[in-house]
Amino acid sequence: MRVLKTSKDIDEALKLLRDEQIIALPTETVYGLAGRADSQRAIEKIYQIKNRPAINPLISHYASIDEIAKDVELNDLARKLLEEFSPGPLTLVLARKKDSRISELACAGLKTAAVRIPNHELTLEILQELKLPLVAPSANPSGRLSPVSAENVAKMFEAKLDYIFDGGHCTVGLESTVVEVLDEQVSILRYGAITVENILELVNEVKIPEREETIKSPGMLLKHYSPTCPIRLSIEDPKEDEALLAFGDTSNIDLSQFTQVRNLSKRANLEEAASNLFKMIHELEEMNIKGIAVMEIPSLGIGKAINDRLKRAASTENTNKI
Ligand code: TXA
Ligand code: MG
Repeated sequence: MRVLKTSKDIDEALKLLRDEQIIALPTETVYGLAGRADSQRAIEKIYQIKNRPAINPLISHYASIDEIAKDVELNDLARKLLEEFSPGPLTLVLARKKDSRISELACAGLKTAAVRIPNHELTLEILQELKLPLVAPSANPSGRLSPVSAENVAKMFEAKLDYIFDGGHCTVGLESTVVEVLDEQVSILRYGAITVENILELVNEVKIPEREETIKSPGMLLKHYSPTCPIRLSIEDPKEDEALLAFGDTSNIDLSQFTQVRNLSKRANLEEAASNLFKMIHELEEMNIKGIAVMEIPSLGIGKAINDRLKRAASTENTNKI
C-alpha cells in the first residue's frame, strides 16, 4: 500500500486515476474509495475491494455545479440546494441523463444518479484537474464503519488496497446527507450534517421516510454501520469490559465502572460529537473491549444523524448487511 501525502503527490494521483486505478481519497465527511465514474473497470474494482453488493449504487463526486449538470437533470430545486450547500456534505439523487458520463454500473440499474461536491481542498483540486467525476463510496469493507482517517482505511483494507491519499482527519466525520430531488419533491434518504431544518430554509416541504421498507436508499437499511464490538444505547448496568462513549457532563456517573471512557463532546456540542463519533468507535474497536455503552444524545440538528448511525450500529436485527 502506498500512502500519498502532500500536494506534490497530486500529479501521481491524477495519473493513477486516469489509468482507472482506485485511490482512497479524503473528503470532509469520510474517506472514499475513488475511481473514474466513467470507467466500468474502475467501478468493478471498487465493488470487489469493498465486497459491496451490486444493487447498492455509488455517489459521483464533482468539482462544480456545471460539471454535475452534464450528467444529471438539474432541476431548479436541485440547483438551489447545490448553490446553497456545495461544496459540502449534501448528496442529491437526480434523474441520470441519457448521455451521462456516469457508468450505468455505478447506478445499480437505477434511472437516477447520486452526485455531490466534497468540501476537501485536496480532493477538489484532483477533481478540478481531472475534469471527470469520481465515484467514491465510503472506504470501508461493506457492513463496516466508515473511515475518518487514512489510518482507519489502511487498517481495514491492508493489502486489498494499493493507494491512499492521506488528507488528515475528516472534519464532519459522518457520511453526507442524501436527498432525492424528483418532480419538485425533496425526500431524505440518509440523515447527515446538512439537517432537515437547513433544507427547510430553502424548500417548503421535505419528505421523511416513516418506515424502513419504504426507503429507496440501501444505505438506510437497518444494520449498516457495524463496528466489530457490540454497541448498546444505554449506560445503565455496564457490562464487564465495556467502554463508555459519553456526551457532555459525566459528573453524575461512576466512570470507574467502565474499562475505557471517551467523551464525544465534553461541552455537549453536537457538531464536535459527530466529528468524534466514528473516530472514537474506531479507536475503541482496536482495543479489544467487549462492548460500548453510549450516553443519550439529543436528536436535534446533526444529532439526528448521530442517533441514526448509532441505532444502526447497535441493531442486532438479522438483516442483510449491505
Ligand atoms: O459522505 C459521503 O457520502 C461519502 C463520501 C466518500 O463522499 N460516501 C458515501 O458513499 O457514504 P456510500 O456509497 O457509502 O453511500 C452512498 C449512499 C448509499 O446509501 C447508496 O445507497 C445511496 O447513497 N445512493 C447512491 N446512489 C443512489 C441512487 N441513485 N438512489 C438512491 N440512493 C442512492
Ligand atoms: Mg458507506
